[in-house]
Amino acid sequence: MDKHADIERLCLLFSEVYPYLAHYITDKYGIKTGYCLDVGAGAGLLGISLAKITDLSIVSIDDDSASIDITVKNILFEGLAHRMTVIETDVYYIPFVDNSFDLIVSRGSVFSWQDLPGAIKEMYRVLKPGGKIFCGGGLGSREISMRIQQAIKADPLFKKVRSRWREEPYIRDKGQNTAYFVNAIAATGLKGSVIFDCEGIWIEMSK
Ligand SMILES: C[S@@+](CC[C@H](N)C(=O)[O-])C[C@H]1O[C@@H](n2cnc3c(N)ncnc32)[C@H](O)[C@@H]1O
Repeated sequence: MDKHADIERLCLLFSEVYPYLAHYITDKYGIKTGYCLDVGAGAGLLGISLAKITDLSIVSIDDDSASIDITVKNILFEGLAHRMTVIETDVYYIPFVDNSFDLIVSRGSVFSWQDLPGAIKEMYRVLKPGGKIFCGGGLGSREISMRIQQAIKADPLFKKVRSRWREEPYIRDKGQNTAYFVNAIAATGLKGSVIFDCEGIWIEMSK
């Protein structure tokens, strides 16, 4: 199975989600300049959508080299190389000094993190005072979510992905488990909230 091809097809399936979330995030926090970090960026599409509607400089990180390759390709295709940087690293080691980012976003990655409190602490370390973290998973609007679910039902690749989600309890359970997120925030000793919006669950933090 060609991993690059699978990732690209999944991006196509989710393509409506990223512009929706980018507008939601900029409307909500009003952060349109400075530095933004996209954690577990996958193909880089949330960062790209944010770059298109703001003046933010974006750093996309992911610990998977195939995702990094595709992010680089997508950034070049969109002509955004002057404002976007890609780094292969994981959420537990973000190679920046403290207080570097005005905005930290992450979609769909949090469910794979084995040490969520550790990840939150590391993101908070690199967040600037006055900055915001929006980190979780969701499909955007109700309409987008329904279209994606229809497409998943109809396509063999997406069926495979869906059955993997069902089989992997760490994804299935965390996606619906508020206490898991609340406890992770509490374990850090930092302030943050869990919100349900954009057809998903998110951690929201300020510094
Ligand atoms: C479901 S994909 C979501 C990708 C993208 N954010 C999106 O919304 O399309 C999850 C991504 O998180 C990355 N990831 C998982 N664990 C990670 C970690 N510990 N550090 C950095 N990236 C991680 C995976 O490699 C994958 O690209």
